[in-house]
Amino acid sequence: MKISLPEKIDTCFTNCHLATMAGKGLSIIKNGALAVSGGKISWAGQKKDLPENYSTRCKEIIDCRDRWILPGFVDCHTHLVWAGSRSHEFEMRLNGATYEEISKKGGGIASTVKATRGASREDLLHLASKRVKTLLLQGITTLEIKSGYGLNLETEIKILEVIHELKKAFPLRIEPTFLGAHALPPEFRDNSDGYIDLVTKTMLPKIKEQGIATAVDVFCERIAFSLEQTKRVFQAAKALGLRVKLHAEQLSDSGGAALASRFNALSCDHLEYLSLSSATKMARHKVTAVLLPGAFYYLKEKQKPLVQVFRDLKIPMAVSTDLNPGSSPVHSMTLILNMACILFGLTCEEALLGATINGAKALGLEHAKGSLEPGKDADLVVWDIDEPSDLCYLAGLSPVDKIMIKGHIYHRNLDD
Ligand code: NIG
Ligand code: FE
Repeated sequence: MKISLPEKIDTCFTNCHLATMAGKGLSIIKNGALAVSGGKISWAGQKKDLPENYSTRCKEIIDCRDRWILPGFVDCHTHLVWAGSRSHEFEMRLNGATYEEISKKGGGIASTVKATRGASREDLLHLASKRVKTLLLQGITTLEIKSGYGLNLETEIKILEVIHELKKAFPLRIEPTFLGAHALPPEFRDNSDGYIDLVTKTMLPKIKEQGIATAVDVFCERIAFSLEQTKRVFQAAKALGLRVKLHAEQLSDSGGAALASRFNALSCDHLEYLSLSSATKMARHKVTAVLLPGAFYYLKEKQKPLVQVFRDLKIPMAVSTDLNPGSSPVHSMTLILNMACILFGLTCEEALLGATINGAKALGLEHAKGSLEPGKDADLVVWDIDEPSDLCYLAGLSPVDKIMIKGHIYHRNLDD
């Protein structure tokens, strides 16, 4: 159905090429134009199809001089509220120690928990703000942030409240996820079921009451929580009306993805050790596969996710930074796109879909985010590139020209 250009346009981008992500593949429109009205995309098409008098209807016209417009990136899996550093663990791993060994000796997630518990709300907000700003200036306009470095009621709430402060401070869309079941805190050393009781009976109801998380995540793994414990958290989350998602099959096949599928999870994330039968269940329940090549790279993993199976089963693949201090201290979406291509064998098209529309699917936000379609939020980036694949090819470069969020220009290059 052709949509006609509205009478009132706030911003009209002209002389641009669009990768809209609105159909199959990148859905490219060369020599295009895009109109924004009231914070939403109101028209996208070829410039030659604009009515002759279009300029009289526009408050602002932006000549993109042959640049490309893509939907803003959706980073659907991050843990960016933390204090402390794990650079010494990075060095230990360079000397041969594994992530699991470090974790079993009380390092890993536990060491970040210690630092995060000890940090003031102001310090945490300051640290996290710097990370959000870094991502935002690279064209990430929707961001998921998990708690999970508190592991007690007080600190988990502190982290989720910091995420809410970030929501107020920045224009991008932030989706808060409660990851209380990320690791076993030291107080519960020999009582992991006791900790799951705390998560399900105390933390979850409190978080629901405060309305500070939209989804609930669990780390289902032999160094974290069992399948049965994951199920208990999911049951409690569902009973409270919260969506679930899972860190599944990252280091071994625990069967987490099949369980999460039965709970109609939004996404299963990592998935390097996913079995074929669990993949079938993800497909049946329309669960998005979130690929995190940063963690695979940092942990020098060998086993790759079943990308061809995801293709064959038409499971949407999202790609995300997994920004965290341990397994993926990667602050660059274009670097992640490059890793997704080189390490996991995604095509540039798949990687770009993964960081836009499929990232939106992983958050249940595909009705509003992730593609350039009339009616969706005007979250977009004008890129100074020759082809969309440059965003995968030019690893680590972030050639942003302009960033628009909900119709407002957040950033524009000064040399314009
Ligand atoms: O996504 N796998 C568990 N959680 C994070 C790592 C967190 C950490 O090491 O601090 C991940 O890889
Ligand atoms: Fe993670």
